[in-house]
Amino acid sequence: MHLRQNFSLKSYNTFGIDVPAEYFTALSDINSLEEIAAIQKQKHILGGGSNILLTKPVKGLVIHNKLKGIKIEKEDDNHVWVRVQSGELWHDFVLYAINKGLGGIENLALIPGTAGASPMQNIGAYGVEAKDTIESVTFWYWNERTFLTYASRECAFEYRDSIFKHHLKDKAFITSVVYKLDKKPKYNTSYGAIEQELESMGVQELSVKAIAYAVMHIRISKLPDPKIIGNAGSFFKNPTIPQKLFITLQSSYPKIPYYKVNDTMVKIPAGWLIEQCGWKGYKTGFTGVHAKQALVLVNYGNAKGSDIWKLSGEILNSVKERFGIELEREVQVW
Ligand code: EPU
Repeated sequence: MHLRQNFSLKSYNTFGIDVPAEYFTALSDINSLEEIAAIQKQKHILGGGSNILLTKPVKGLVIHNKLKGIKIEKEDDNHVWVRVQSGELWHDFVLYAINKGLGGIENLALIPGTAGASPMQNIGAYGVEAKDTIESVTFWYWNERTFLTYASRECAFEYRDSIFKHHLKDKAFITSVVYKLDKKPKYNTSYGAIEQELESMGVQELSVKAIAYAVMHIRISKLPDPKIIGNAGSFFKNPTIPQKLFITLQSSYPKIPYYKVNDTMVKIPAGWLIEQCGWKGYKTGFTGVHAKQALVLVNYGNAKGSDIWKLSGEILNSVKERFGIELEREVQVW
């Protein structure tokens, strides 16, 4: 194990924030976990760094997940079970699946980050969530220095949420995930923008590849490329509000977009709320709100994590004041 001290994390987070880690090591072999566990420092796991905001120097040990490998575990006439090591890039796994014509994750193309973050965050887009294909999650349990495997139902998956953000927060290092993919895919194109994109691409016959390409086109057109403009995707979660509050809002804003969650709750796009408050395209110093998607906060160069944190607080306050809705940050703050 190679332990670095006072190590810059600038190229390890997609916001491109330059703060040091007190200690840093890369993990490419699960057998090193025992040795790392013996280090008496607070441990932080870093995957693709695409969902974190670094606001101060990180105390303790940052472990960069470089566990690699994608392997078919078993298959039957309808499904293939694939084990993916947690340090694989999520999009590389999507490419693997679509190249084999396997369905289930094509709507999740181009989501940044690693496969290990997919259960943690229950990543989702265009009407599909990671939990729909996750069969099981294997993790190293620091407290007992052993590997455990949880079936999907034990992971408490919710919208952008799981047991790994609560009960197992900082206690589990996800090492691999098994996904159950479809040999006979059921396509999900219900999200309006996908239909439109497939049409403008001139797609006659649906395939997992065509859907993934449509999703990639949409994402590229709306979301900033972190290699060019630092960002962490959606900064806030879309809030779920009571139907009663929604009806009041709808009478003042008849065009408010929404998704029905159940008979009593409605989900509102945070991007719309933020745009209504006038933040879309806003810029101050090196930070700002993306001009094509108000849910994405950006670093135009030398922003500090604390600048982005401050801007996010101002946005929270203005949405609260105008709509009475409390937004919740989606990114992890270190
Ligand atoms: N909208 C606005 N203004 C904006 C942004 C959005 O009015 O600046 C409106 C759109 O017109 C549309 C609605 O809000 O009516 C939804 O917008 P969009 O389809 O862009 O999706 P979103 O709800 O803003 C969520 C996910 C994204 C995911 C997309 C597509 C969350 C927090 N975000 O965004 O996920 O790609 O749906 O499914 O749920 C991420 O988590 O990092 C992420 C990018």
